[in-house]
Amino acid sequence: MIRKYRFGNPFNTEAVVQDLPVEEGAPAFLVIEKGDENGAVITYSMDESTRVYGLGENVRGINKRGYKYISNNTDDPNHQEDTRSMYGSHNFLLIEGQERFGLFIDYPSIITFDIGYERCNTLEISCDHMDLDLYIITGETALDIVKQFRVMIGRSYIAPKFAFGFGQSRWGYRTDEHFREVARLHRENHIPMDMVYMDIEYMEAFKDFTVNPEAFPDFPALVQDLKEDNIRLIPIIDAGVKIEEGYDVYEEGVEKGYFCKRKDGSNFVATVWPGETHMPDFLNKDARKWFGMKYKVLLDAGIEGFWNDMNEPALFHTPERLAELREILDKYPDGFDLADYDSPEIGLQKAINAIANNPEDYKLFYHNVDGEMVNHAEVHNLFGYNMTRAAGEAFEELKPDQRVLMFSRSSYTGAHRYGGIWQGDNKSWWSHVLMNLQMLPSLNMNGFLYTGADIGGFLSDTTRDLVLRWLALGVFTPLMRNHSCDGTRLQEFYRFEGPEDFRSVISARYRLIPYIYSEYMKAALKDEMMFKPLAFVYPEDEVAVDVEDQMMLGNEVMIAPIYKQNAMGRFVYLPEDMMLVKFLADGSIYTEEMAQGIHYIKVALNEVPLFIRKGCCIPVAEKAECVADINTENLTVLGFEGASYEMYEDDGVSKDYDLEKYIRVISK
Ligand code: GLC
Repeated sequence: MIRKYRFGNPFNTEAVVQDLPVEEGAPAFLVIEKGDENGAVITYSMDESTRVYGLGENVRGINKRGYKYISNNTDDPNHQEDTRSMYGSHNFLLIEGQERFGLFIDYPSIITFDIGYERCNTLEISCDHMDLDLYIITGETALDIVKQFRVMIGRSYIAPKFAFGFGQSRWGYRTDEHFREVARLHRENHIPMDMVYMDIEYMEAFKDFTVNPEAFPDFPALVQDLKEDNIRLIPIIDAGVKIEEGYDVYEEGVEKGYFCKRKDGSNFVATVWPGETHMPDFLNKDARKWFGMKYKVLLDAGIEGFWNDMNEPALFHTPERLAELREILDKYPDGFDLADYDSPEIGLQKAINAIANNPEDYKLFYHNVDGEMVNHAEVHNLFGYNMTRAAGEAFEELKPDQRVLMFSRSSYTGAHRYGGIWQGDNKSWWSHVLMNLQMLPSLNMNGFLYTGADIGGFLSDTTRDLVLRWLALGVFTPLMRNHSCDGTRLQEFYRFEGPEDFRSVISARYRLIPYIYSEYMKAALKDEMMFKPLAFVYPEDEVAVDVEDQMMLGNEVMIAPIYKQNAMGRFVYLPEDMMLVKFLADGSIYTEEMAQGIHYIKVALNEVPLFIRKGCCIPVAEKAECVADINTENLTVLGFEGASYEMYEDDGVSKDYDLEKYIRVISK
């Protein structure tokens, strides 16, 4: 049962697709009060046993209790335990205690979720304006509540099947030869691969929808040549459009008035990778359509997928903020010594740091929403969502019968209908492997099924064992991409000693694609989660509800990745009898039935473990080096005798999804 309550005059975010009546009276469970000025403060009294799930993209555990999180889309690559805001805002909570309910707050600006941080037993949600829609969802189980929420926000984006293969990425590939080399070295080393990602260097001076003609003398030929080898190129598109006379996207945007404006009507300027840029007004539906149609030039060159970036939007600085900084610097014409530099009165260091992503800059520009000028700060969290939507809506028009790969960095609930997200700029840290795992169920609750993290870590220098262990988690995430930052240690798998170890781990992914793809499709088409916390599946098991480093994958499998350096194995809790499956380096598969309880399992760096639930089975294909080569006629069925499995198999390209037509039952 979903009840919708309205306070004030909320902005229509279009996060929700169901048309629900607005209830009279006060919502159950919560106390809602006016905060300072026109603010809202929503509180709920938690009992000792209450667990709180959700909030999509955020740091820390699966149970979010005990910390304070802020929905405020932010380009901050330092994902630490004290990070309060990441790139997306997903204001859905699931509360499980003596009372059980889901709570979605549809509010497009900064909103704080204090989940027992100031006061241990109080959940306090606060924002500056009492203009919001609030939804209370009740149901028999956590999974039932999530499902109702997912139906309410609309079906999740479905990626083409090739996008379930492995993708290699690095900020630093610059030329036609680079891309051919990456493709060739993967094929020569027999490391399976389906995609090579193109970061900003492919463009001409970082201008969206251009390809550097010197570095790529015949871009369509490159796209075609790689495609013949079943490798797709996936270019990045950034939010900011470079200001440059003669650049058609810039000139058209200015002429049509499709960029975000300052109060005086001039176009807002911000510096990002291309230098000074204008920000397309993605909240203006005409501008959105215009920008979306620009993807055509790359689709026409044979491209079948994209990633959208810098769309929080990230602002390195604006002329306004630079002027402010200059004023401070002018006070010290002869420079400053270290004492001055650190002095809190002068705040020089603070001033320098504050020029990027400054909240004051978000107040400087406006969107044209159906003729009304809306200040960006009021709708900040919707920018990336509407950039993804620009692309998604255009793809519907440009490629009505073909799925196009799309995922974004920034998002809000609703964006899940148009694309996936990656988990942003992480680091080559062991703790980020665990973070990758723990974020999966909360993203799934919010409809983001096509997701994964930069395997190996984006920033800082990685290590061989970290890449292997991370990869052994990545083999289960729909988006499986190795991505790293220019200047860091090279981390293509063939850069390390013993590439055969990487080959054997990644081979497990290709063997599991019939299962992973089926579970993805079922989750999308039934509005369910693909990755579930053990607590949702075994709610009566008091050990299982506390497990935060294992995850249910689909309806048959549990995973337990290793996320500690030098560990030869790990303890795993089995909430019921299960079958341990290990993909071994020699290509064979080890299986062992294990009783409910705690087990120590040994896992070598080149192995991939998983567990099959009692009474279940899963399909496993032979090895393949690309998705197109997976043979689903010749499957091994692993699991318990007498079990059967509904495998979903379609062409992976067209959009006539159908849970009956494409199901094939296989049995053990
Ligand atoms: C941002 C992206 C990262 C990309 C870089 C350069 O930091 O998050 O993935 O490599 O920009 O485009």
